[in-house]
Amino acid sequence: MTTPHPAETVKACCATAYQSDAVAAILGDSYHPGGLALTRHLARSLQLQPGMRVLDVAAGPGSTALLLAAEFGCEVVGVDLGERNVARAREAARQAGLADRVGFRTADAEQLPFEDRSFDAVVCECAFCTFPDKPTAARELARVLRPGGRAGITDITVTPGGLPPDLTDLAGWVACLADARPLEQYAELLAAAGLRTGLAERHDDALRRMVEQIDARLRVHRMTTAGKAGSPLTGADIHRALALTAQAQRAVAAGAAGYALLIADKPKEAPAP
Ligand SMILES: C[S@@+](CC[C@H](N)C(=O)[O-])C[C@H]1O[C@@H](n2cnc3c(N)ncnc32)[C@H](O)[C@@H]1O
Repeated sequence: MTTPHPAETVKACCATAYQSDAVAAILGDSYHPGGLALTRHLARSLQLQPGMRVLDVAAGPGSTALLLAAEFGCEVVGVDLGERNVARAREAARQAGLADRVGFRTADAEQLPFEDRSFDAVVCECAFCTFPDKPTAARELARVLRPGGRAGITDITVTPGGLPPDLTDLAGWVACLADARPLEQYAELLAAAGLRTGLAERHDDALRRMVEQIDARLRVHRMTTAGKAGSPLTGADIHRALALTAQAQRAVAAGAAGYALLIADKPKEAPAP
């Protein structure tokens, strides 16, 4: 799909939305379906080991990077376009006593500021769907991986033509839906970048639960804090957010939107003859 919005507009809107207090209040610590339980499953599927160097692309508030360092003993770098998220994630690493093993940088997934082959593994959760230039982003993931390294992606999937128009405009991009792809297309994008998908799983129920949680938290805020000074949702159009959430719930129930996990490896180079 070609976005009707300039790529820089899409990126800026995503970065701004995901570092807002409103999103933190609605999504909690982890900004993807399945939460940290699915992150643990992703890490185990990647066979992460202590000392491995891992890149978290579009790290958001940094919860995944901190988990990979604390529970799997990895050295992690997280990048995100949102400067405020990067600052928050750095502070969270400092408070958790992990700043020596986890760092965060402001960077664009389509232009990663790292040398070729500098990571053992790359993770990207619920963000690849928002990148306007997916082939470039996939090439960047592959470029920074060492041969034999693995990429682990979890992301929203959609059935082509399955979403109502409201979910395919700019708000739909920010909500990770508008340019999400079928699972097979993610595997094709990775393959075109030289990454072989060895594991692909569906986790549609994780998306259903997340949308339900968003709906419930929006309603609680509407009843309690909305309009009150200091509320994280001050200025947010809760009515519109609830209408979009209802449409997303219908899309998930109809099977038009789901969530998937892919593990893809960068083949080792053939030994020189
Ligand atoms: C749905 S959140 C997911 C955050 C995190 N991966 C998680 O699961 O908690 C999407 C994140 O992607 C970031 N993002 C969007 N486009 C980006 C880009 N081109 N480069 C880097 N980060 C980007 C946003 O700033 C946001 O933090």
